[in-house]
Amino acid sequence: MKAALASLMLLGTVAASIHAGEPPGLWLGTSWYPEQWPESRWDADLALMQQCGLKVVRIGEFAWSSLEPAEGRYTLDWMERAIDRAQAHGIAVVIGTPTDAPPAWLTTKYPETLRVDIDGRRMEHGTRRQFSYASPKYRELCRTIVERLARRFGHNPDVIGWQIGNEYTEDSYDPAARRQYHEWLRARYGTLDALNRRWGTAYWSETFDSWDQIPMGGGTGMGSGRGNPGLMLDYMRFVTDTWVGFQQNQLEVLRRFVDARQRITTNLGGLGWADRFNRRDIAAPLDFIAWDDYVGEGHLDPVRNGATDDLVRGWKRQNFWVMECEPAFVDWAPISNALAPGETRQLVWEDIGHGADAALYWQWRSDLNGQEQYHGTLVGPGGEPEPFFAEARQTAREMALAAAPLEGTAPHSEVALLHDYDSRWAIDFHPQTVRYNQVDVLLGYYRALRAAAQSVDIVDPRADLTAYRLVVAPSLNVISVELARHLEAYVRAGGHLVLGPRSGMKDGYNALNVQRQPGPLVPALGGRVEQFYALLEPVPVAGDWGQGKATIWAEALAQRSPDCRVVMRYGAGNGWLDGQPAALTRALGKGTITYLGAVLDAGLMGQAAQDWVTGAGVEVNGIAAPSDVEVCRRSGPGGDVFILLNFGAGPERVTLPDRFQDVLDGGQVDEVTLPVRGVSVLYRQNTAVGPS
Ligand code: GLA
Repeated sequence: MKAALASLMLLGTVAASIHAGEPPGLWLGTSWYPEQWPESRWDADLALMQQCGLKVVRIGEFAWSSLEPAEGRYTLDWMERAIDRAQAHGIAVVIGTPTDAPPAWLTTKYPETLRVDIDGRRMEHGTRRQFSYASPKYRELCRTIVERLARRFGHNPDVIGWQIGNEYTEDSYDPAARRQYHEWLRARYGTLDALNRRWGTAYWSETFDSWDQIPMGGGTGMGSGRGNPGLMLDYMRFVTDTWVGFQQNQLEVLRRFVDARQRITTNLGGLGWADRFNRRDIAAPLDFIAWDDYVGEGHLDPVRNGATDDLVRGWKRQNFWVMECEPAFVDWAPISNALAPGETRQLVWEDIGHGADAALYWQWRSDLNGQEQYHGTLVGPGGEPEPFFAEARQTAREMALAAAPLEGTAPHSEVALLHDYDSRWAIDFHPQTVRYNQVDVLLGYYRALRAAAQSVDIVDPRADLTAYRLVVAPSLNVISVELARHLEAYVRAGGHLVLGPRSGMKDGYNALNVQRQPGPLVPALGGRVEQFYALLEPVPVAGDWGQGKATIWAEALAQRSPDCRVVMRYGAGNGWLDGQPAALTRALGKGTITYLGAVLDAGLMGQAAQDWVTGAGVEVNGIAAPSDVEVCRRSGPGGDVFILLNFGAGPERVTLPDRFQDVLDGGQVDEVTLPVRGVSVLYRQNTAVGPS
């Protein structure tokens, strides 16, 4: 009786904290689909979630047919009961708008809402994402259901947020999308003459004399051939704007009817690096952004995972949520192997170290007969905990301990890597060598910079760069005159800019820059690229940063100003490159601009990055650790939280520069030993602020 009373009191405290309005800083949760289970089961599931320590569920994002079983007939009561029951277990709710999966009555009655693929096939019911993102009728129906939900739950104290749709994915080639595309082009260019000039359509007699002649996606289709470069780049921008419009349609409704306290996001999916549209533009109007952290086949790659977090954080330059992650395994990878025990816990802690304020497992319980029966879950088909449950509970316990110190903190870096969708698209349309995988090239830079500086931001080139001592742009292919101005101003004010290979080749219309590379930045650099080469064999390269090889790509550079200095040169290689400059640098204003024309091997890349970091005077995080131990730092007005992760094969000892509070194990420590896959969370109060 006493115990029951105590646990009731505890429940009261948790529930009260949900009602208090402002959510605590750190959430562990899961996707829960109450509509798929008898209501009599809900309490048992929620009690298990509570036992696990979960604090939030996302519900509803595929529930349209349960919320509106026939046009205009709304059945929202069950959702209210589910929210109430969750609250009773101290669990808050994020509602997903159900627009990723329209019900059968909808697409039957309004077939024009169905998506058409590039080969002209109209989708059918029976899966999800079968809608056209451009369809006015579909948008109208989305608005209606979202308004119903928003009016009903927009002031519900247990609803803390909204997710619009789910993982925007497929563009559409239906007549409405085509019409909008032509209108979009007309608005952008005004006249066909201007469009023909910018796209250079005299080439192959492509010249258009009416807007509706203009094909979508490059004429031959994205991925199945190469279309006009200007057209292809603009098509990707159109796709982006159409998704932005799709989202805005629902966002406006939510803004009108829900409390500002309920924060609005979308879930941008499992492939942070996917570039089917510009994700930063999607993130811009939202309160925060979320992604899905899935490993799929293999094991956690801490460099790639941390970089993806940093990319996502860069879209809004603020902390984010991991809206989904795998409870040890997925069901869609070629080999959906399980992560090792403790590996998902490390994944979550690495995400937190890079700015995640929440992580939700997908999904709570195995669906009995849906399309994802084999996926990892916390609870199996019979409703009993899976082996992974204990790891989730441990993670929840730890997050509860770390929530207070992490409150109000975020990662900060003095180094930025630039990631640009226009450049990604421009190079991928015409890669010149299959070996040039831009994400891999960027990760090569990231790995080296993170080793040297411990933390790296990944941001858009147009972002305010003033806070960074060092800005590195691995493949900034598209540099318009305006972007060049922005980057040059950064350098003149004292920044250190490093441009990597393929930078500045194209203008904003994906046409070649006549100055050669780096286009409008040639005068600032006082040098340029004479010629680029896709390499068959590596070429030696040596100079101030050490020696090694150019691996897959090399550009021969030339000085054009006496104060532009050669930093690296090629050795004997493909003949054209022999003895030519591989990197140039020049002091400009209070800063420097450097151009590196080669993709370097990992060793030389590491030395180069170290040189840039030291040269720019970048301050590192503050705890020196063995190379297998990642050190993440989140800082706030109250102090610093360090998250140490051991990715090595044996235990690692880290000597600390100071005494820290050991958040997970308790006590004050001046060294920690991390077991294999170990995590340590250390807190140092900012003494200037005083005790909080
Ligand atoms: C995505 C979706 C989920 C689910 C998971 C499975 O991220 O958002 O609905 O399909 O993948 O891994």
